[in-house]
Amino acid sequence: MPCCSALYVQTSSQGAAAIIRQANIDDVPAIVSLERQTPLASHWSEAAYRAAFEPVAPARVALVWDDEVVEKENQNRLQGFLLARITAEDCELENIVVAAEFQRRGIGTQLMQALIPAARELRALRILLEVRESNTAARSFYEKLGFQITNRRQSYYNHPTDDAVLYALALMESAIDSRPPRPLRPS
Ligand SMILES: CC(C)(COP(=O)(O)OP(=O)(O)OC[C@H]1O[C@@H](n2cnc3c(N)ncnc32)[C@H](O)[C@@H]1OP(=O)(O)O)[C@@H](O)C(=O)NCCC(=O)NCCS
Repeated sequence: MPCCSALYVQTSSQGAAAIIRQANIDDVPAIVSLERQTPLASHWSEAAYRAAFEPVAPARVALVWDDEVVEKENQNRLQGFLLARITAEDCELENIVVAAEFQRRGIGTQLMQALIPAARELRALRILLEVRESNTAARSFYEKLGFQITNRRQSYYNHPTDDAVLYALALMESAIDSRPPRPLRPS
C-alpha cells in the first residue's frame, strides 16, 4: 500500500486539512512523543516502533491522524495513531491513542473506521484487543464500536496490577466502516 494516501480528509474553512493516512517510519518520533504523554496507552520502546515499520515486520495497519490545522497553532500535527498486527485471520489492535486535548471529538472512531477496511483487505476476519479492566474510557469506546467481551485474564497487567479484558469484533458483521463519517466535534 502506498505510504501516504489519505484515507479520510476533513478540510477547515481556511483550507487546512486533517487527514487519516498510513503511518511511516518518519512518524515514529511523533508517535513516541504522543504515546509517552498518554499513561493508559501501551508503552513500547522507540526501537520497537521502528521495528514495526521494517520490511521484514509482520503485516500491520499503522494509521495516523495528521492535522495541519493544529500545526498552524504550533502544536504537533500528529494527534492520534493506531497500530494493528495481522496474524492469519486475526487483526490484533496493539495500540490506539488520541491526544488528551483532542479526545471525545470522534478521532478514535475515525481511526477505527479506517482500520476495518484495511484489515479486511489483509484478509482478517476479526479485530482482537485486550484492555485494562479499569480503563473505562477505552472500554466504553470499544463497546460503542460493537466489540464484545470474549475473555478475561486475572492480574495480567502490572504497575498497577489489573485484569485484562479481551474484546473481539467480527468484521463480517461490523457495519461501522460503512456508516458515513461522523463530523468531528469542535473542541
Ligand atoms: C480510547 C481513545 C482512543 C478514544 O478516542 P476518542 O477520540 O476520544 O474517542 P471518540 O471521540 O471517537 O469516542 C467515541 C465514543 O467512545 C466512548 N468514549 C470515548 N471516550 C470516553 C470516555 N472518556 N468516557 C466514556 N466514554 C468514552 C463514547 O461512547 C464516545 O462517544 P460520545 O463522545 O458520542 O459519547 C482515547 O480515549 C485514548 O487515547 N485513550 C488513552 C489511550 C488508551 O486508553 N488507549 C487504549 C488502550 S487499550
